[in-house]
Amino acid sequence: MEKFNIAIDGPAGAGKSTIARLVAGALGFVYVDTGAMYRAVTWKVQQEGLSPHQESEVIALARRMRIELIPRPEGQQVLVDGIDVTKDIRTTAITDHVSQIASIGDIRQLLVAMQKQMAASKGIVMDGRDIGTHVLPDAEIKIFLTASVKERAERRFKEMQDSGNSEMTLSQLEQDIARRDQLDQEREISPLRKAQDAILMDSTSMTIDEVVDQILGLCKDKV
Ligand code: C5P
Repeated sequence: MEKFNIAIDGPAGAGKSTIARLVAGALGFVYVDTGAMYRAVTWKVQQEGLSPHQESEVIALARRMRIELIPRPEGQQVLVDGIDVTKDIRTTAITDHVSQIASIGDIRQLLVAMQKQMAASKGIVMDGRDIGTHVLPDAEIKIFLTASVKERAERRFKEMQDSGNSEMTLSQLEQDIARRDQLDQEREISPLRKAQDAILMDSTSMTIDEVVDQILGLCKDKV
């Protein structure tokens, strides 16, 4: 099959990562979770004891650090300066501050350049907030995946319960998701929005398999 790129954007908890990973697996493409890159910078900022408000120090740190994304069958492994941070970047401490880091223009510029490079030879399924609008405006397929705040919070809650994590209640999760949606939609640089040519998919009452099948169906039309 000829290679092409797929951009999947949408708000927090819409199921982008799971769906992007499954679509990539089915096509033999590489899955890239760009949120993990913003999380990796946030992790390093915390390790160095910096505040997200210390913008020039944060930018200098991001320029020095090395982020590696390694495709694995079970998902993407994330290394920062050789340290495996795959799990550590998913904690509440990181989630609470990542949108602040992601609103810094120079950080976005740096990570977007890396993302464009990763997708240059095609065969990439990339998920994020600005992939269809900014990172890969020429992606052959663009999906804007959403679901109601309530549904997204319930899914996250179940995921956390299944992994034995009781850090947050359902209503705290709902508030956190709504807060991140707002920050991501209202930021000045590359806010979260649907690209004009993206296909809107509301997964509120769809299963993961149904969403994956629909996307794979769109791919068949493309090739
Ligand atoms: O996808 P995930 O929830 O892990 O992303 C974490 C945060 O990183 C988002 O809430 C958003 O602030 C930021 N992000 C972004 N642009 C992307 C991917 C993620 O601003 N392409």
